[in-house]
Amino acid sequence: MEDSKIRKRLIIGALAAGLISASAISALLFRSGSAHVPQTRSSGEALVGGPFTLTNHLGETVTDETYSDKYKLFYFGFTYCPDVCPLSLQIMAVALEELGPLNTQIHPLFVTVDPERDTPESLAAYVAQFHPNLIGLTGTVDQIKAVTSAYRVYARKTQDPASAGEYTMDHSSIFYLMAPDGSYVSHFTHVTDPEAMAREITQVLKK
Ligand code: NI
Repeated sequence: MEDSKIRKRLIIGALAAGLISASAISALLFRSGSAHVPQTRSSGEALVGGPFTLTNHLGETVTDETYSDKYKLFYFGFTYCPDVCPLSLQIMAVALEELGPLNTQIHPLFVTVDPERDTPESLAAYVAQFHPNLIGLTGTVDQIKAVTSAYRVYARKTQDPASAGEYTMDHSSIFYLMAPDGSYVSHFTHVTDPEAMAREITQVLKK
């Protein structure tokens, strides 16, 4: 399927779910992606990842060890995000569907950068809108600081221009594909074509 068709399908899906506004769509369509790309060593190995302790959307304490049986696809965002996170999670959901049965060989993880508002309960409702395999992760402010720092995710509270007295989060928008042992494999941004993402993940899983 052509990129434009996929993007259209994603946007229609997001609209149907009431997730993004029309103005957000035009911003997304014409956005070139402001994600902070991680620094890489000359070997190509990126300096991202590390151990973490967090709480999953079922309220259970989890660590990097909990997910050491499979590859992991991480995305960092927050449930109040009006545009980029819903689009990114749609891309992730389409890529997981493109993987077919292989998608059971990967843990898709959505880590909040807004632990003060994203409780396990709100994450549970949110991730279910995108994909049944998607796992929501939150934690204390310090736990989230530690994991975002390990994954070199930029996240900062700012005044919400759409709502006086409320805050929103500026954050980088990157998917990280990590190996079962927690080492970095690859990354993608929210302008990635989900079919291309699925192809690259398939190649990694079949190695
Ligand atoms: Ni976002």
